[in-house]
Amino acid sequence: MLCTRECFVFFATLVFARLSSQCSNYGYPFENHLSTLTPYRLVGNKSFERIHYEGCVPQKIWLLIRHGTRYPKYSAIEQMNSRLPDIKDLIIDSGGVPNEFVKNRDFDLLKKWKLNLETDKNNKLTQEGDEEMLILAERMQSRFPLLFDDVYSNTSYKFKHTHSQRTKRSAYYFAAGLFGKNTAKDVWFPDPLKKDPILRFYKLCDRWNIEVKKNPSAQEEGRIFENGPEISEVVEEVNRRLNLKENRLNLGDVKLIYDMCSFETAWNKLSKSPWCSILSHETIRVLEYAKDLRYYWQDGYGHELTYKQACPAFKDMFNFLQNKNRFPRVNAYFTHSGTMLKLLAHLGLYKDDEHLTAKNYDSMGNRLWRTSLIDAFGSNVAFISFGCGSENKVLAMHQENIVRLPACPDSDLCDINSIRDYYYQSLSSCDFSSMCRIK
Ligand SMILES: *[C@@H]1O[C@H](CO)[C@@H](O)[C@H](O)[C@H]1NC(C)=O
Ligand SMILES: *[C@@H]1O[C@H](CO)[C@@H](O)[C@H](O)[C@H]1NC(C)=O
Repeated sequence: MLCTRECFVFFATLVFARLSSQCSNYGYPFENHLSTLTPYRLVGNKSFERIHYEGCVPQKIWLLIRHGTRYPKYSAIEQMNSRLPDIKDLIIDSGGVPNEFVKNRDFDLLKKWKLNLETDKNNKLTQEGDEEMLILAERMQSRFPLLFDDVYSNTSYKFKHTHSQRTKRSAYYFAAGLFGKNTAKDVWFPDPLKKDPILRFYKLCDRWNIEVKKNPSAQEEGRIFENGPEISEVVEEVNRRLNLKENRLNLGDVKLIYDMCSFETAWNKLSKSPWCSILSHETIRVLEYAKDLRYYWQDGYGHELTYKQACPAFKDMFNFLQNKNRFPRVNAYFTHSGTMLKLLAHLGLYKDDEHLTAKNYDSMGNRLWRTSLIDAFGSNVAFISFGCGSENKVLAMHQENIVRLPACPDSDLCDINSIRDYYYQSLSSCDFSSMCRIK
C-alpha cells in the first residue's frame, strides 16, 4: 500500500505542523532532547525514494524495531496523576507566573492542563505509535519494493514480537502499512516468549543482570551526575523560572515535569505540552545528558558484557543474510530499547572516543551517544543484502538513514566477507551461556 489514508493524513499534518511552526514563535528547541521518549517523527528519514545500486539486486532484509510511542509505565502514571496536579496548583497559587520565561500562552495551557490517563493504559502503544509503525512500513516498502511484496505470504515474511502489548501492536501496524489492515489481521506471528533469546537476550543473561542491571556500582557515574552541580543548577533554574520562593520543587518533581513534557510531545503532534515551557533549553540538555549517561552505563558502552551479549542477535542477522535460502525475504523483529542500544554498541556505532561520565557533560556536547536520536520510540536498524554479480553485499540503515559500519568506513555497501572478518570474534565465539554464567 503506497499511500493509505493514514499516510495522507500524516503528510497533511506534517505540512500543517511546518507551517504553524514557521508562523509562530513556538519553535520546539527541546523536541529532540527527550531521550528514549522522543517520538520517531523527529528522528527518522522521511524519504520514500527507492534505494538502488547499479548492478546490484536487493535480496533480503533483516529489521529490528523498537516499539512505537507508548504510555508511561504503571508507577509513572500513578505519580503523574498524583503529583502533577499539585505542582500545577502550586505554580498557579504562587502567582510567580506568567513572567518572561513562562509566557501567558503557556500559563493558560498549564491552567487548562489535565491528564486523562488510567493506569490500565500502562506501557501500551498509543495512536502515535500506531502511526509510526504504519508509515515506517510504507516507506520501507517504497524503498525496497522487491523485498516488501504487498501481498502477504507466510513464506516471504517472518515477523516476531516480544511478550508485550506494545511490540505486538507495533508488529500489527507495521504489517498494516505493508498489506492493509484487513490482511494484517491474518498475518501469522509465532507465540511470543517471555525471554526470547534473540529479541531480548539480556533477560537470559544472569551475570549481566547481577553485575550491571541490578548493581548500583555499575551506575556510579549516573549517580554522581545526579548529585552534581549541573543537576542542582537545573533544580534552581526551574524554581527561578517559576518564581517559587517556598514550596520549592525538588529533583523528583523536575524529572516528572521532563517526562510529562516528553510524553505529551510524543503523543501530540500539533499541540505543545505546557510542561515543556517550564524547562529552559539548557535544563533539557542537562536532563537529557543524565538519561544518556544512565543508558550508556546500563545498555551501552559502559560495560563490555552489556554489548558482548548481543552476539546471538548479531549472529541471527548475519546467518539470515548469508544463507542461500531465498525465503523469507523479510525478517522483522519488534522489540525494546534495551535490545536496540546493546545491538548498536555491539556493532560499534555511535561510539565516542571517551566514556560518558559525570564530569564531562561540557565536553560531550557533540557526543555520538544521544539516545534522543539513536533510541527514540520506533527506532529501527535494517540490514539489507544485495547480490552484486557474484558478490554479496550488505547495506546498513538506522532510523532509515544509511549508516556505515566500522567494517566498511569507506562505502555504503559492505562486502559480507568484510563483515565476517570485522566481527569475527562475535560470530565465531558467541558463547552466550558461558559469558552470562554467574562467576
Ligand atoms: C534520507 O535517506 C536518503 C537515502 O534513502 C538520503 O539520500 C537522504 O539524504 C536522507 N535524508 C536525510 C535528511 O538525511
Ligand atoms: C506460517 O509458518 C509457520 C512456520 O514457519 C507455521 O508454523 C504456521 O502455522 C504458518 N501459519 C500459517 C497461518 O500458515
